[in-house]
Amino acid sequence: MMNTLLWNLISAVPGFTYIDAFFKDFIKNILKTGPIPNHISFVMDGNRRFAKTWNLPLKEGHRRGADALMNVLQCCIDLGVKNMTVYAFSIENFNRPQPEIDTIFDLLVSKLAYISEDNEFCDTQKLRIKIIGDRSLIPERILQDIQRIEAKTSSHKDHTLFIAFPYTSRDDITHSVRQIVSKVKDGQLKVDQIDENQIEKNFYYEGEAGKVDILVRTSGHTRLSDYMLWQCHQDSVIEFPNTLWPDYQFYSTWWTIFKWSYYKTLQLQDAEVMQIKKLSPEEIDRRYQHHPTYQKPITEFTHPPYASVVKK
Ligand code: FPP
Repeated sequence: MMNTLLWNLISAVPGFTYIDAFFKDFIKNILKTGPIPNHISFVMDGNRRFAKTWNLPLKEGHRRGADALMNVLQCCIDLGVKNMTVYAFSIENFNRPQPEIDTIFDLLVSKLAYISEDNEFCDTQKLRIKIIGDRSLIPERILQDIQRIEAKTSSHKDHTLFIAFPYTSRDDITHSVRQIVSKVKDGQLKVDQIDENQIEKNFYYEGEAGKVDILVRTSGHTRLSDYMLWQCHQDSVIEFPNTLWPDYQFYSTWWTIFKWSYYKTLQLQDAEVMQIKKLSPEEIDRRYQHHPTYQKPITEFTHPPYASVVKK
């Protein structure tokens, strides 16, 4: 709370917006010189606690959450992240009071309609929107809007925003198994063709996006809540920042990606060194001779004469 108050105070200083924009561009450009994750995923947790902390109506907490998502999205897109997934509504969330469910659904549709149809954000950023989840649970009026938005953005190739809605990983895995079994029954697939690729192709993702590089769950809760259980792999980084989602904005996103990029660089350097160790001196010479700091490998080592045996 103190941090937010301090930030609001600093933001009110004249000229702040200009300096802030300049600084953001500067640090984004630094980050772009290193590796950038292909797929980053967010559990947007803490909207209700945010509303409670600031004595706001619950609806306002979710509205601020949706605004924070736009900020985070812009940061990821500017850095060149190709795939982003957000946990917008878990199947478990159907247990919430109906007015809250309606608020989240209406907010989701209105925000997506705004960025895809009204302010042309999706067109300028070449952003596609795809829903992953059990569509049979989505009310008809919402589903129609969502399908219209998906169709409108379907040709965009640079970035994709996957919206997990209504979603749980266990449901996704079950759905994939069901699809595979029915394909085997129809003779479209043989049992020995079932592999990891097939399982992924039959997820709601339909084989897109691949593994997740960074998974962020805000608000300090350290649970996965049935999310990205398959997509997290041996190199995925899971972050649990102690920030409520509406407060998780540009700088938090930048910092998360910066840490990932730094460790990825170290990992890549390490892998390169290990690779070099396996190469012959001739191959090393061929690959690295134009590198500015390259020194020819010492293939034949003869010790310089010992002082004691040097003839005077
Ligand atoms: C979790 O916080 C948040 C949600 C269940 C809803 C998130 C949905 C949005 C922000 C709208 C999505 C909009 C688009 C465009 C995808 P919580 O309510 O569980 O908060 P708490 O942890 O404080 O209880």
